[in-house]
Parts: sequence; structure tokens; C-alpha cells
Amino acid sequence: MKTLIVYDSFFGNTEKIAQAIGNSLGSKEDVETLRVSDIKLEQLIGLELIIVGSPTRVFKPTKAIMNFLNKIPLDSLKGVKVAAFDTRISTVDVNSRFLNILVKLFGYAAKPIADKLEKKGGSLIIPPEGFFVKDSEGPLKDGEPERAADWAKLIMKKI
Ligand SMILES: Cc1cc2nc3c(=O)[nH]c(=O)nc-3n(C[C@H](O)[C@H](O)[C@H](O)COP(=O)(O)O)c2cc1C
Repeated sequence: MKTLIVYDSFFGNTEKIAQAIGNSLGSKEDVETLRVSDIKLEQLIGLELIIVGSPTRVFKPTKAIMNFLNKIPLDSLKGVKVAAFDTRISTVDVNSRFLNILVKLFGYAAKPIADKLEKKGGSLIIPPEGFFVKDSEGPLKDGEPERAADWAKLIMKKI
């Protein structure tokens, strides 16, 4: 199954999750894991599955991820399975009630990514997922790459 995992990452945490997903999904000929700045739209031709992931930055995906998603032509993901993930800080680790209210209101990056992929015609095959960092710049919480690998296995089961 021709699969592309597209990610952005400032401190390397989302990259690690993307790679864990890519490694769990299958062989190198079929599965490519690429940073969003290295993607050309032609690489979407013939895809069967695309997974897009971003760090959550001020409740949203990064600009580079949003620019990439906005550039995908309408309906060009028809027949393509899509999934979305982000990295984020857990509300249990945030000592601010105000910030937690904002998080409840504005959420994380994965949902708007999933919405955008569906808008371009993609079929969402699994709910958007978040993977946790311990602090603003990471590292990832223990066990998160393994959880990402399991999430990828769940995607395979749904296909
Ligand atoms: C400027 C900035 C804004 C952030 N905003 C949020 C946020 O709104 N919600 C959240 O859960 N984490 C937020 N974080 C934490 C990031 O999600 C964290 O840096 C990211 O998961 C790390 O991924 P990366 O190493 O791939 O960049 C923010 C971090 C920075 C530096």
C-alpha cells in the first residue's frame, strides 16, 4: 500500500513519532516518511494512505503543515485514506487553569489536520491522535513511540 507520512518538527519529537509510525507500517518501498519541507505535490499521485502530523503550536498545526494542506487541490484525495496526529503537552502537566480552559476551547493540531484532509476528499480511517511530550521542547513521554507504533498497527487493521 503506497503510504506517505508527512510531518513537521521543531525539536525532533514529532519526527520521532512519524518515524515510529513509518517503521511500524511496513516496507521501505511502500512507506515514505518525509518532512513537510521536502514534499512536492506530485508525490501525492497514486497514494493510498497519507498520514499527516504536526507539533501543536498555539493550539494549531504549524504554518508549514497548513500551507501544505492548503495547497492540495480539492478532491485530489478522493479514494485516499487519511489519518492525522500531533504532539502536545498533556493538560495534567499544565499548572494553569486558564491555559487548560483555552485548550478545551481551541484543542490541538490533529483535529484541524484531519478536517483539512477530509475537505480535500480523503476518508478519515481513525480518529485524530495526540502523542505527549513532557515539556515544551520535549522529550516525548515514556512509551509514546511504542504507542505510535501501535496506533499505526491499528490503522493497518482498518485498511
Ligand atoms: C511556541 C510554542 C507553542 C506551543 N503551543 C502548544 C499548545 O498550544 N498546546 C500544546 O499542547 N503544546 C504546545 N506547545 C508544545 C509543543 O506541542 C511541543 O513543542 C511539540 O510537541 C514538540 O514537537 P517537535 O519537537 O516536533 O517540535 C508549544 C510549544 C511552543 C514552543
